[in-house]
Amino acid sequence: MGKNGIEEFQTLLLAWYEKESRDLPWRKDPKPYKVWISEMMLQQTRVDTVIPYFNRFIDEIPTIEDLAKVEEDRLLKLWQGLGYYNRALNLKKAAQKIVSEFDGVMPSDGKALISLPGIGEYSAGAIASIAFGKKVPAIDGNVLRIVARITASREDIGSQKAKKLFEPIVLGLLPKDRVGDFNQALMDLGATVCLPNGTPRCPECPVQSHCLAFKEGLVSELPVKASKKSRTVEEKTVLVIRSGGRFAIRKREGKGLLPNLWEFPNFPGHLTQQEGKEALASLGMRPVNIRGLDSARHIFTHREWQMNGYFATAELDREQEGLVWATREEIQNLYSIPTAFKAFVKACSE
Ligand code: ADE
Repeated sequence: MGKNGIEEFQTLLLAWYEKESRDLPWRKDPKPYKVWISEMMLQQTRVDTVIPYFNRFIDEIPTIEDLAKVEEDRLLKLWQGLGYYNRALNLKKAAQKIVSEFDGVMPSDGKALISLPGIGEYSAGAIASIAFGKKVPAIDGNVLRIVARITASREDIGSQKAKKLFEPIVLGLLPKDRVGDFNQALMDLGATVCLPNGTPRCPECPVQSHCLAFKEGLVSELPVKASKKSRTVEEKTVLVIRSGGRFAIRKREGKGLLPNLWEFPNFPGHLTQQEGKEALASLGMRPVNIRGLDSARHIFTHREWQMNGYFATAELDREQEGLVWATREEIQNLYSIPTAFKAFVKACSE
C-alpha cells in the first residue's frame, strides 16, 4: 500500500469506527487505570462477558491505591467466572509496583508498562495508545488475522515470525493522531466484521478495497493458523458433602492451576459409589446418604477436566483438616469457586 493508500485506509477505518464503534464502558472515559483493567480482563475473555465484571470492579476498587491494598480473596471473588486467575493476582502485584516505583501513577512508557506483572507487548501497546495517545501498535489475534488478509500473507499467525513480520506493517498503518481509536477500530473490525473461521462479513468491511485476500478470493483460506496442541484429559470425582446445612470446601494450593481458589473435595479418576464412600471415610466422614450427580466437563487452555460427582450427606467422625464448612450463601457470596465447579455449586442449591 502506498502513502495515499495508507491515508485512505486510515480515513475509511476511522470513519467506520465513529459510526459503528461498540459502546463499551472503558471507552467513555479512557483513564489509564480503566484502560489497564479492561485490557487485562479482555485478554482471553469476550467483550460481552467482561462488561459487568469491569463495572463491578471499578465500583469496588476505584483506584490504583485501592487495588494495591485489596484483600486477595475479595479480588478473586470479583474475578470469579472470568478464568485465568493469574491475571487478577498480577493486577494487585502491578498496582503495588506502581505505588512503590511510579508514585502511584500508571506509567505511559512502553518499557515501564512491560515491566509490570501481567502486561506484555500487546497490552503495553493497547494502554500506551488508548490511554496516552502514543503511536504504538497493539497486535492481538484479531489484528494478526486482519493483517494476514489485507496483505494476503500465508504466514502462520500463531508463530513468532508472523508477529515480527506484521509489526512494522501495523506501525506503518497507524495515523498521526487518534492512534487509540485506530487500534480499537482494528480490534472492533476483527471482532465484528473480519471474523475468523470462514465467516467474515466482507460486504460490510470499510477497508475491503484495500484487502488483497478479498481481491484474490483468498478470504476463506486466510489466515493460516497451525492447529493447537491437544489437551491433556484429567478424570476426577467431585464430592459435594453436606453436614448440618453446611458444605465442605477447601482452598487450592497457592501454585499451579487455579491457585488459592476454593473447591469441593475431589479425587483423581472416576470413582464408583462405593469408592466415593471410601473417599468420604478417608476424610473422616460417614455417609448417611450418597447419590450420583450429572457429570461435567471443563476446558482449560491445555487441560480438560472430565468430572463425575456425588452428593453426600455425611456425619463427621473426626475433625477434617483443611476443610471449611460453608453455608450455601457463603458459597455464593464469599468464597471464590472457579467456573470449572459450576455444576457442583448448583447442586448445593437443589
Ligand atoms: N479487546 C482488547 N482490548 C479491546 C478494546 N479496547 N476494545 C475492544 N476489544 C478489545
